[in-house]
Amino acid sequence: MDDARELSRRTALALGGSGALGGALILAGCAPTDSGDSGGDGAGADSGSTTDGGSGDGASAPTDAAGEDVAALADIPVGGSISATIGGEPVLLSQPTAGEVVAFSAICTHQRCTVAPERASFVCPCHGSMFDPTTGEVEQGPALEPLPSVPVTVDGDRVIAG
Ligand code: FES
Repeated sequence: MDDARELSRRTALALGGSGALGGALILAGCAPTDSGDSGGDGAGADSGSTTDGGSGDGASAPTDAAGEDVAALADIPVGGSISATIGGEPVLLSQPTAGEVVAFSAICTHQRCTVAPERASFVCPCHGSMFDPTTGEVEQGPALEPLPSVPVTVDGDRVIAG
């Protein structure tokens, strides 16, 4: 009888422990990501927090990719957008007017899914957040933060990182 009571108590503790852990994981998963650091290696050693407060300055380019040839200007429709990569990170390139290109991280600020151009917007396939393709601002949640801008320049008929 004592054994049964002890087993029951252990089971409850185990369930409580996993429940609390599960709750913490759920909370972590639902929190808007604000670290701005997309360089995680997936090894699990990253605590996921930084000391900078997270809101950032709006630009989160992979700085070591400056000078990288990103795309042909002609591949980006005027008034449209394409997906690309800079420094191995997914980005979105828009050409609001002929010869003017803006770029944004394609990592959703909600839970880090990869956002893609869709019609006249950037759309996250995971929970439906939508972003303005010329400013990165949130058009529709659940994301709360805009897509960080990524510096690019137009050099002749090429789009260059930096
Ligand atoms: Fe949830 Fe993008 S990850 S809307």
